[in-house]
Amino acid sequence: MTTFWDGRRVVVTGGAGFLGRVVAGKLEALGANVAVPRSRDHDLTVPGVAERLLADTQPSHVVHLAARVGGIGFNQEEPASLYLSNLLMGTHMIEAARVAPSVEKTVLIGTVCSYPKFTPVPFREGSLWDGYPEETNAPYGIAKKAHLIHAQVNRAQYGQRFAYLIPTNLYGPGDKFHPSVSHVIPARIKRCVEAKERGEQKIEVWGTGTASREYLYVDDAAEAIVLASELYESSEPVNLGTNREITIRETVELIAQMVGYDGELVWDPTKPDGQPRRRVDPARAEAEFGWRAQMPFEQGLRHTIDWYLANREQADRLN
Ligand SMILES: NC(=O)c1ccc[n+]([C@@H]2O[C@H](COP(=O)([O-])OP(=O)(O)OC[C@H]3O[C@@H](n4cnc5c(N)ncnc54)[C@H](OP(=O)(O)O)[C@@H]3O)[C@@H](O)[C@H]2O)c1
Repeated sequence: MTTFWDGRRVVVTGGAGFLGRVVAGKLEALGANVAVPRSRDHDLTVPGVAERLLADTQPSHVVHLAARVGGIGFNQEEPASLYLSNLLMGTHMIEAARVAPSVEKTVLIGTVCSYPKFTPVPFREGSLWDGYPEETNAPYGIAKKAHLIHAQVNRAQYGQRFAYLIPTNLYGPGDKFHPSVSHVIPARIKRCVEAKERGEQKIEVWGTGTASREYLYVDDAAEAIVLASELYESSEPVNLGTNREITIRETVELIAQMVGYDGELVWDPTKPDGQPRRRVDPARAEAEFGWRAQMPFEQGLRHTIDWYLANREQADRLN
């Protein structure tokens, strides 16, 4: 069976990362010839590197996933480098793709961290500019939101074709578990597994636990990116989410239960909660390119915990 992707060349920046590996694998399975540049050879923050990459690979599609990403702690420690590196990577890639003769479409991945701190729930794409993001993730969120403007004005002035997707918090097998960069789900899985092994009576958890999140399984996010890369082209950004909101407290309790840790969870309200609530409206993704998230949260969590237990050495590494 032939597919849209048969024989097409696609550059997936960040294609060796958590999300990128799954996207690259799906495109390859559909017949695409996928190039995955590594940061050690192609540092996209450096001017000229993105142009060279596209001249060497001649892709019809660029899926730009490369980014520096982390949890609240990482965002607090490195706001300046997160802002600048993410801004530069996206800016260079968008501009290089605009002028590269082979490139038909550029696919950009935003973040739910770009939404204003107090966005009405569910977050609709039209609310993106209605306020300042939650402070701890604003530098990252604003840098990524600037890519949307860049792509929109390039489309208006030069006709650059693009799709811009806004996934909510991702989780799944292959996530990063190192404490310096991990998000809440991998961080708590690792902590609960270790506390259980050591017989610790209690573990400390950041914040009050009352903030809510929406978690999207990595395979569902990758499926949306592949579909949108083929089928969606518009100035309008598109949310990717599940429509299920769950508090951090419920999330951590569920992880502890699934891991089998029965010690006490001690909440530390002196640490930040992050954005108070998060749930996006995913209706546009279904209407525009027929995507809907498939993985039930408990099942996705089970896969993630099982993957962690089977791959601890790899998962605990920094990169
Ligand atoms: N994880 C989430 O919860 C989440 C949620 C919403 C949106 N997103 C977005 O989804 C995308 C993928 O995130 P992820 O979680 O998969 O991140 P990840 O695992 O950290 O992967 C990011 C990749 O970016 C590459 N990279 C970093 N700095 C680079 C540079 N200077 N030049 C070239 N490449 C560079 C790295 O390549 P090397 O491995 O070669 O160093 C890395 O593999 C990002 O755009 C992120 O903003 C993620």
